[in-house]
Formats: sequence, C-alpha cells, structure tokens
Amino acid sequence: MTELHLSGDGAAPSVHPDANWWRQAAVYQIYPRSFADSNGDGMGDLPGVTARMGYLSELGIDAIWLSPFYPSALADGGYDVDDYRNVDPRLGSLDDFDAMVASAHAAGIRVIVDVVPNHSSNRHEWFKAALASAPGSPERARYQFFDGLPDGKGDDGGLPPSDWPSHFGGPAWTRVVETAGPRAGSLGQWYLHLFATEQPDFNWDHPEVREDFHTTLRFWADRGVDGFRVDVAHGLAKDMSLPLRSKPALKILVDDGTDPLFDRDDVHEIFAGWRTVLNEYDPPRAAVAEAWVPFTERRLKYARPTELGQAFNFDLLEAPFSADDFRSIAEKCLSEAEASGASSTWVFSNHDVIRHASRYALPDGSTPEDLNAWLMADGATPVPDVARGVRRARAATLFMLGLPGSAYLYQGEELGLLEVADLPRESLQDPTWFRTLNTIKGRDGCRVPLPWTSTDANFGFGGTPWLPQPEWFGPLAAGAQDGVAGSTLELYRAALKLRRELQAEESLQWLASASPEVVSYRRPNGWQVVTNFGAVPAQLPAGVDLSKLVLSSGGAAAGEFDTEMIAPESTLWFAP
Ligand code: GLC
Repeated sequence: MTELHLSGDGAAPSVHPDANWWRQAAVYQIYPRSFADSNGDGMGDLPGVTARMGYLSELGIDAIWLSPFYPSALADGGYDVDDYRNVDPRLGSLDDFDAMVASAHAAGIRVIVDVVPNHSSNRHEWFKAALASAPGSPERARYQFFDGLPDGKGDDGGLPPSDWPSHFGGPAWTRVVETAGPRAGSLGQWYLHLFATEQPDFNWDHPEVREDFHTTLRFWADRGVDGFRVDVAHGLAKDMSLPLRSKPALKILVDDGTDPLFDRDDVHEIFAGWRTVLNEYDPPRAAVAEAWVPFTERRLKYARPTELGQAFNFDLLEAPFSADDFRSIAEKCLSEAEASGASSTWVFSNHDVIRHASRYALPDGSTPEDLNAWLMADGATPVPDVARGVRRARAATLFMLGLPGSAYLYQGEELGLLEVADLPRESLQDPTWFRTLNTIKGRDGCRVPLPWTSTDANFGFGGTPWLPQPEWFGPLAAGAQDGVAGSTLELYRAALKLRRELQAEESLQWLASASPEVVSYRRPNGWQVVTNFGAVPAQLPAGVDLSKLVLSSGGAAAGEFDTEMIAPESTLWFAP
C-alpha cells in the first residue's frame, strides 16, 4: 500500500487533518458514458472527465463520484462488472484513470468510485468458472446456485427455487445448461440474480468473496481514490437456508431484520470489515451506502463511524415539493445523523430516477406508476409545467445546499436538465424495459449524454451519442449558460461557492415564520435560508435583513429585492 502512514511504533494510523472532508462535501455524480466523449466513439470516457476538470472546478464541487467505468457488457449500464480492478477499454485505461485522479486532486477535487458487491456480471472470471464446473463444486459456491423445484411434469428441478422476482422484472432465477457433472448437456441448477440475468448474485458467506472485495477496495485506494459508493449495500447478506422463503415482491415490507434478502443484521459485520480496510489509509477512505431501506435506526447502522460513515437518504428525493415534508425530513435526518455520529446526505436526482426538474413539473402526488405512465406517453400526458418544475428544482437545491451534511448532485442538474421522456423506443437500453416486456420504460431518460455547447455537433459531447439528445438541449448547454446571470449553471456556481465560504458547524436552528408555506433556518454563523414552497408570494420571516441577501433561486440578483415578500416556489440566502 502506498499511502499507509503508520506512526513510528506501528500503532494506530495518525489522524489526517482532512479525515472529515466528506462530512459536508458537495459531491457531483458522473455517469461516465454520458459525461464527455474524448475520442468521438459516442461514449463518454475517463479522458473526457479529465478534459472537463476545469468545468468541475469552476462549478465548486468538493468531490466527484463516478458510476462504474469497469469492463462490462453494459447489460445494466456498467453495474454488471466483469473485472473490478480494471477500466473498460471503451472508457480508457488504468493510466487514464490515474491521470484523471491526478488532475482532480490538483484541482482540489476528491474522487469516489462505485463498488458493486451484490453481484458481478456473468462475464466475470468466477462466474465463467462456476458455469464450467459441476453442481456442488467450489467454483459454484461463490454464487447462489440452487436446485430447482419439481414442476410436476417429470422435471424434478423445472421450477425456480423460489418465487423471488428480479428488481427489473421477470424471475430472479435463471436455469443453466450443465457442462460438467452427471447432468452435463442438460438443464440443471438455477442461479440467483436480484437484477438482470447478466448480474449473478454473490454468496457473501464465502470467505473468498469477502477477501476479494477487500482487495478491490485496496486496489483503488492505493491508486489515490478518496472514497467509495457502495451499490445495493443492504442486499449482501441473505438468508438462503432451505426451504427458501416466499417473497413475491422485492420491496422491503419489514424493517426488523427478518426479510430474507434485504437489510439483514449480519450485513453489518461485512461493512465493519470494510471499515477496517478503509482505515488502513490516511486519511481513512470515505464510503456511502446505497441502501433503499425505510428510515429507521436500521438505516443509520450503515452510516455508523464503525461502518461506512454515510448512507444515502432518499427521503427528499421521494418527497413532494412541500414545506411540511422538506422541513420534517431535514429535521429528522439531521437529528438521527447526529445521534449516530454520521453526517446526513441529501440527493434529489441520480442515474436511477426521473430528473427532479421534471418530477416537480408533474402533478403533485404522482406515484411511481404515474411517472411511468408519463414516460410511456413520451412525456406528452400529463403536460408538464416545465417552468414550474425548474423553478421548484432551483428552490429545492438552494434549500438543500444550505443544510449541514453532504449534497450529492447528479450531472446535468446544474444545467436544469429535464428528463428526456420521448427517447425513441429502439434506442432504449435499460434492462427494465426489456425484462418488463416493454411496459416499464426505465431510466435511460436521465442518462442522455450532456450538452456542452449549443453550436457544435452533438452539443459538444463528442461523437454521435449512445442515446440521442433532443433539440431542446441546445439552450440548456453549459456553454449557453456560462456567464449568463440568472442561469441555472450560474446559480449552482454561486451557491456552491457561497456554501464553502459560509458553511462552518454542522448544526442549524429552525426559525418561526408567519406562513405555513415558508421554511427558514439559520446556521451558527448567522447564514440564513428562507424557502417559500407555496404558489403565492409570502411574507419573509421577521428579522430578515434584506440588505444581506446574497442569492435567490428566482434569479434576482442581490440588492434587487426591496420588498418584505418572498416569491412563490423560491429560496433566498442571506449572509451573516
Ligand atoms: C443500484 C444502481 C443501479 C443498478 C442496481 C444494480 O441501484 O444505482 O443503477 O441498476 O444497483 O446494480
């Protein structure tokens, strides 16, 4: 290991002054294939990220998180990993990775990479070895191979071992043709894949699986990576004791540790082991769990200092744009994070959900089914109120960027990008679209390659993009917003810069307000944030000093305000 600095007697690692950098970081998620294409093949790549480091630095973020860039057949956008310790040749090389990390660090930007431990791809060496070996072999033991159940028609293993569905639709089991053993040449065992067929689940009871992920963590940490985002963290430990329990829907219905597949108590010893590895480094490497579990103290366990340190909190992402929801979620998450020693996380958009400017443009109370129906109608019905969606997204962002904790931003949200709801069906790539037999459209609409300029071919992205860009990307391109007062890009830049200057301690005080639609808080240094969630202007809280206004999500520059009102669906920031 290159970065292990033990104190002279080989005792505990010294505590680096930057050990807590992640606690209040603004982290920008890069979906590498859609960020910037340096070689014109239509797919974003690592040199493309390096080439845009100036943009990222000017944006004012503290870290980038890269979604998987590992070798992959892209059955699930790279979350089907062939080799955890390499770079997809279409996205670059390990040298390109090192160059990207060096340029990020030179710009003062930390680097977080995605680890995908629940499953590998079906092209991983271990899975190929498992398929080439007989049932019961050591090669099979690293995955979840089981005999099927009798189908009543003469095949004693013709039915899947359980009724578990895949998260992307269809069954979570695929049957293999045996190549070795007594059944060679005929259908035999089944393997578990909670996601696509190409994503076989690992057996986390196997010591080699555990050890191999420690090796992967060290591999990237040795290359200077500052942190890890842990995919499906709540899914690693499973109760596979026979008979397998029935669970016809994958959603977690219980949160007491009795679910056979998710959020089991024994998952925590895995992450305690990871923390030991992450703490071999100075500063210790950061980690954040992706664990879509209900908000109880069970979710906080992933974020304990003895485990990953942070867990994504998707509560704001799932909430309607409402004063009550935003305030109660922020209050609850902050107090729970404090109690557990973690810092809170905030997120509105990522590569798995409809962009929040579009969500906020659709009728309040839209369910996931409503959102899919809107996608299936190519975004035509209901007609989105785009101006309102963008207005609310900007207000929500300023509300969130003022809070203590880490803000996770998804590439393109700083441009006010909307969901591309009318992608041609033949261009769709999300496995959800195929596995639901074209009834659930999936996540491609938030993954369309970014527009960098309004004048160049492919909006300056590079070659012909792997998902087509709509014409309306032009005016939203980074180049078209650069230096334009009131643009969403300039709003993000200003907010992120002020956030650095003004943010000090991890606490806040909620302020009383005359209107139930207005939420306001003050940070210990006197910095104040006021959001009006309502559709009509509202009275500013008492004591607000208008001369201290520094930022408005409504686009008004400081000093332009001379009334005691706050515009509808907007946020104002006041300096101390
Ligand atoms: C996570 C990822 C998602 C992926 C899934 C399976 O939820 O964010 O994109 O499809 O895990 O790896």
